[in-house]
Amino acid sequence: MTTVAPRGTDAPGRARIQERTLRRDRWWLQPLLTVLALVAFIVYSTVRAFENANYYASPYISPFYAPCITTRCEGSTFPELFTGPAFISPALYILIIPLGFRLTCYYYRKAYYRSFWLSPPACAVAEPHQGYSGETRFPLVFQNLHRYFFYLGVAFNVLLSYEALMAFRNSDGEWFHMGLGTLILVVNAVLLWLYTLSCHSCRHIVGGRLRHFSKHPVRYKAWTVVSKLNPRHMQYAWVSLVFVAFTDFYVRLLATGAFEDPRFF
Ligand code: FES
Repeated sequence: MTTVAPRGTDAPGRARIQERTLRRDRWWLQPLLTVLALVAFIVYSTVRAFENANYYASPYISPFYAPCITTRCEGSTFPELFTGPAFISPALYILIIPLGFRLTCYYYRKAYYRSFWLSPPACAVAEPHQGYSGETRFPLVFQNLHRYFFYLGVAFNVLLSYEALMAFRNSDGEWFHMGLGTLILVVNAVLLWLYTLSCHSCRHIVGGRLRHFSKHPVRYKAWTVVSKLNPRHMQYAWVSLVFVAFTDFYVRLLATGAFEDPRFF
């Protein structure tokens, strides 16, 4: 008869400590804040994605609905590709890309593995799970798609930057106008680029698999820039997440008439 060796915290070689942790600081605070922030964002973005209204206030479009690709879009600035059923919100066709990009992000993986799955909840705090299979099995094996979501994320950022450019028009379509909404859409696009370019996959794509940087000066330069952004990836992840929700909220305020967009010129 074969005996199965204990795994996880009971595995051979692990220290035998009865307490779950010897830490005396508030180690639970960070996972708790992460849960609260992510749940708040998920609830807000889900409500807005299904609302199917108040996402366009000329010339601004909410980033939750951009690029708006159906003929049912309110005042879209993007080519309309098809007509979907009226009850399906245009946001639902596109949100899979930013969602997949963030869900498979190395930083967010760490954040939600720790805060939602408690795996582990913090350094030097035992996790409740007995086994550990990493990301080698269904469904976590799909985390390996992150690189491909990165490519889609870059394309998405180009489109959101285009929408920010379109916000330099007035509601009659004339150029070289700017309002507070323009500024918000531009800042949103910049933050999304910072988040995307600081991505770990991006760093590997631009500088990985090379034997000699000296033979690839352009890639070396790009890798140097990405490497400077990369240590702040966590900060860019949070700031861009909060700001994308704020941008949507601002457009909603304008679309519902609750606020008037201040015009700079
Ligand atoms: S690691 Fe976070 S976006 Fe790629």
